[in-house]
Amino acid sequence: MKLLVINGPNLNFLGIREPDIYGAQTYAQLIEYVEAACRELDIQVQCMQSNHEGVIVDAIQQAYLDKVDGIVINPAAYTHTSVAILDALKAVQIPAVEVHLSDIYEREAFRHVSYPSLICKKSIYGKGFAGYREAILFLKELLEK
Ligand code: DQA
Repeated sequence: MKLLVINGPNLNFLGIREPDIYGAQTYAQLIEYVEAACRELDIQVQCMQSNHEGVIVDAIQQAYLDKVDGIVINPAAYTHTSVAILDALKAVQIPAVEVHLSDIYEREAFRHVSYPSLICKKSIYGKGFAGYREAILFLKELLEK
């Protein structure tokens, strides 16, 4: 089983950006956490991060060509704006789970809109790094059905 984990803009600044909201751990620590979870669950994983919407669209399209089985995506700010990322997820029809470190529904009103939630099999928010593990586990169970 092959998963792609996509992180959107400013997540490379984890540990630096608003630690009161996103925690003190760095992006490198997030990737270690995700890779360890996948190792434990015997899942092959590729992680990418970009600050650019089109690069994320390209990565989703590439996942189709690479026959990726599932996508975990934290589109960060693009969650609330990007029809292009929603359309890419719809185009490839790869089961996807949306993850947010913070609880977007407890924050500013503009964060309550999530375009990817319209196609994602599940949305996980407010659980920090553990949300990624939950998403990986959910996809594993879904794909093994
Ligand atoms: C985020 C929440 C978004 O609203 C925000 O723009 C982010 C991170 C989260 O992980 O909590 O950059 O996706």
